[in-house]
Amino acid sequence: MARKLAAGNWKMNGIGESLAEVALLLADPLPAGVAVLICPPATLLHRMAVLAAGRIALGGQDCHAAAAGAHTGDIAAAMLAEAGASHVILGHSERRADHGETDAQVAAKAQAALAAGLVPVICLGETLAERQAGATLDVVARQLAGSVPDGIAPARLVLAYEPVWAIGSGLTPTPDQIAEVHAALRAGLSARFGAAGAAQVPLLYGGSVKASNAAAIFAVPEVDGALVGGASLKAADFRPIVAALAAAA
Ligand code: PGA
Repeated sequence: MARKLAAGNWKMNGIGESLAEVALLLADPLPAGVAVLICPPATLLHRMAVLAAGRIALGGQDCHAAAAGAHTGDIAAAMLAEAGASHVILGHSERRADHGETDAQVAAKAQAALAAGLVPVICLGETLAERQAGATLDVVARQLAGSVPDGIAPARLVLAYEPVWAIGSGLTPTPDQIAEVHAALRAGLSARFGAAGAAQVPLLYGGSVKASNAAAIFAVPEVDGALVGGASLKAADFRPIVAALAAAA
């Protein structure tokens, strides 16, 4: 998969009629050199996989750390894979906040994802209070160390920096603020996997990415793409983001 990755996180949005947006997205050829990933609700994965026929990658939004068992309402990584997923978002801040997920739980889920052949898209990022306290780099270093499981091959990892305060808020960090965190994350990956390993990991930015700010965000050093929430739901909003990534240096 290309290191340039435009990923859409549909969150708890989308029923059958929403597949029309994917049909629209695929109506014209997507730009070369950019991988596109859509993470719909699990209920849509299989139908979306049939529709997409391999032209885009698909992912889940969470999985359980266990392979199977008595976990009512949860979903196993192998179930996502069978439904057509190649990726799974893990440790999204909404999971960390709504379900109290810890770094250790995210790492365990990532192990389960890897065992099922899925690439984990591991999310991390600071809250507004943590940024205001000057703790941003400490927070993301701790999340990186705790959420990325031991033994993972860097080629099987995607990382998304998502400041909690930028998600769904319309607020975005400045390019310098994004650059600072992405440089720290790449350095952290290098310390763990070596420079060549670290270079294999797509480092996404997420939080209020839209057509109007995408080019500026993709111009930031060490930004390899985006994890897009609201602006991934409509093809007309998501396509220009994919195009901006393709056009980025
Ligand atoms: P947003 O969400 O683009 O709607 O801010 C991003 C995310 O939560 O991944």
